[in-house]
Amino acid sequence: MAIPIIVDCDPGTDDAVAILLALASPELAVLAVTVAGGNVGLGHTLANALALTALAGSDVAVHAGAERPLLGAFTSEVRIHGENGLGGVVLPPGGAAAPGLACDVIRRILREAAEPVTLVGIGPATNLALALTSEPALTGRVRQIVLMSGAWGEGNVTPAAEFNAWSDPEALAILLASGCRVVFATLDLTAQALVTPARIAAWRERGSGRCLRAACDIQASVPLLDRFGDSGTPLHDPCALAWLIRPDLFAVRDCSARMDLGPGPSRGRTLIDRWGRTGDAVNAAVLETVDADGLFRLLGERLALLP
Ligand code: RIB
Ligand code: CA
Repeated sequence: MAIPIIVDCDPGTDDAVAILLALASPELAVLAVTVAGGNVGLGHTLANALALTALAGSDVAVHAGAERPLLGAFTSEVRIHGENGLGGVVLPPGGAAAPGLACDVIRRILREAAEPVTLVGIGPATNLALALTSEPALTGRVRQIVLMSGAWGEGNVTPAAEFNAWSDPEALAILLASGCRVVFATLDLTAQALVTPARIAAWRERGSGRCLRAACDIQASVPLLDRFGDSGTPLHDPCALAWLIRPDLFAVRDCSARMDLGPGPSRGRTLIDRWGRTGDAVNAAVLETVDADGLFRLLGERLALLP
């Protein structure tokens, strides 16, 4: 049976591949796509999500959500994703957003779903937190929360914090306190899944569909980072979806995790207790390793299935 999921995102060059992977994979039933401001402003992230679902020929509902975090100001990441959020790649425009604010739609779907739903968060967690904190009883309708977020150690926005966690640390703290199992695909995992010219070329050899081409063009636009030099750039968000599809490609460790919500330089850091030093209750699971070649084969195979 397909796993019912909601994908909450901020497309975003890596979100784009993640959304296409989700729509191409029969193991997943995408009940809705909800969007927040993140990599770029909500105007762009919403338009990108609508364009991507249309490109895939999907009629899944796309709902607008939070423009900014629960506290503090909105900050984008155009250095990586470009002004339009897709590295300058222009897709044919999609349709109109479905009625209903993301957090309200998430709550409605959780209430009405025939079975518990997996919440997949690949952007700032604001929409997910608003849904669960405004109706806590719904956590019993959540199968698990799977996030691309956080890091064992070094961040990518500050030395301490990863972008999604840093963008709305209070939202992530709400999810960690919800009683739901929170599965993390952290930066330390995604650093094992580097996009390289050779891997993009291997994708292109898989077919000539518009989605495959768009995914390759979008990924080819992502700049190399000092941290990884010429070895490639990490492919973040698809790791969260790929774990649901092919858990055998990953190793997982149960941990306790909490957030640094301070005003200081480590704000937004995910404090993941890898070795059980705190004695805190386990509330999370962290994807520790991934078979990167297997991941990229899966992505190429699935992207080639799309129009
Ligand atoms: O730190 C990487 C994460 O932040 C990814 O989800 C990327 O799309 C941005 O949202
Ligand atoms: Ca994202």
